[in-house]
Amino acid sequence: MNAEGGGELALAGGKPVLPSLAPVDWPRTTDADRAAVLAVLESNVFVSDRAGLTAVERLERSWAEFLGVRRCVGVSNGTTAIELALLAHGVGPGDEVVVPALTFVGTAMAVTHVGATPVYADVDPVTFTMSPRSLSAAFTERTKAVIPVHLHGLSADIAAITDLARSRGCAVIEDAAQAHGARYHGVPCGAFGNTATFSLQMTKNLPTCGEGGLVVTNDDSVADSLVQLRQFGELIRPDQPRRYVSHRLGFNAKLSNVQAAYTGSQLERFPAYHAARRKNVAAFLARLGNLPGLVCPSEPEGYEHAWHILRFVVDLDRLFPDLSTAAARTLLMRALRAEGVPATRYQMMPLADQPALRSLCQQEPAWPVTQDVIDRSFTIQQRHLPPDAGPLLQRFADAIEKVWSNLAVLEKGAVS
Ligand SMILES: Cc1ncc(COP(=O)(O)O)c(C=O)c1O
Repeated sequence: MNAEGGGELALAGGKPVLPSLAPVDWPRTTDADRAAVLAVLESNVFVSDRAGLTAVERLERSWAEFLGVRRCVGVSNGTTAIELALLAHGVGPGDEVVVPALTFVGTAMAVTHVGATPVYADVDPVTFTMSPRSLSAAFTERTKAVIPVHLHGLSADIAAITDLARSRGCAVIEDAAQAHGARYHGVPCGAFGNTATFSLQMTKNLPTCGEGGLVVTNDDSVADSLVQLRQFGELIRPDQPRRYVSHRLGFNAKLSNVQAAYTGSQLERFPAYHAARRKNVAAFLARLGNLPGLVCPSEPEGYEHAWHILRFVVDLDRLFPDLSTAAARTLLMRALRAEGVPATRYQMMPLADQPALRSLCQQEPAWPVTQDVIDRSFTIQQRHLPPDAGPLLQRFADAIEKVWSNLAVLEKGAVS
């Protein structure tokens, strides 16, 4: 235990481990990123509305090559990416799509945007990703697709999920919004053979300077549909001028060249950032493994975590037997934040309980693990995990150790 482990809690008036709550420090913009964006401004080619080697097409090629997939289509954001992928797979009104009960609300909202109904599967208590067993129970004759989410940067059990979905004739659309660089038994997330979607929103591991999304697939007909759907249903032919003829109902969901150029530049450094984050997080978690009642996020055998979000599950009933779970969680998070650790909650409720989605859900609640994980965990998010965050994460470890060595003080209500 670090020497600071014995100090008085900041919540009780002691000196905090960090002078203030760690600031948001992401994305990192370099001169190369600025030059890439400036080159677009100077080119005057801002939109990707015609074929040709624009910044969008360069990014699409680079990301497809990075993953080892045939096609990549840039779109306006990660939610639209899921929506267009569903449409390209023929999902529509009357269909059901299984999503995990624990994910960002955009996963399920994209399903509603195409007129289909989200159905929820519970998650695994260790990986926090869709449980194949719960998926099996969620299938009905109306199920048309499954969206496993590689949550927090860890691949879902994609082989098992794909087998189950294909045996029911369902499409699999992987929501890899949080999982750039993650791998499943050596295969990059997004390259498993399904259609997969990524977000480039600025908090993501591969960010843009705003909003953006990418869809990848090995299926040319899916990719061609996506290109049409993102641009008013038009056919965009290489080396031909735009004709303004719409062959199907589509959207204006194009990615801008400014956003694409910024991400393309970030992609050059992405492997180094990914490696640094993995090293920093491993050293951080190694400090915390023995704290009683704290379950650190882990990397199952054969998986490569992208560490987008770190979720810690706490045995609150054991550590604070006299407090309700919610009161204990709030107290613990206040103590951590007072020491400078930016502990936050990620997802306040199972997706089906979101007010906007509640009335659409006809299922009996069947997501006890999701509820338990949400009740008993706190997270540290990517915006605090930049590539040079190694020393900062060690300070977080000091602070967490300090709070843990003062649990009795917290428990007795000696702080208010
Ligand atoms: C799991 C997941 N799916 C979908 C999205 C939606 O992406 P975007 O914000 O780019 O629309 C996000 C974004 O946070 C996400 O985390």
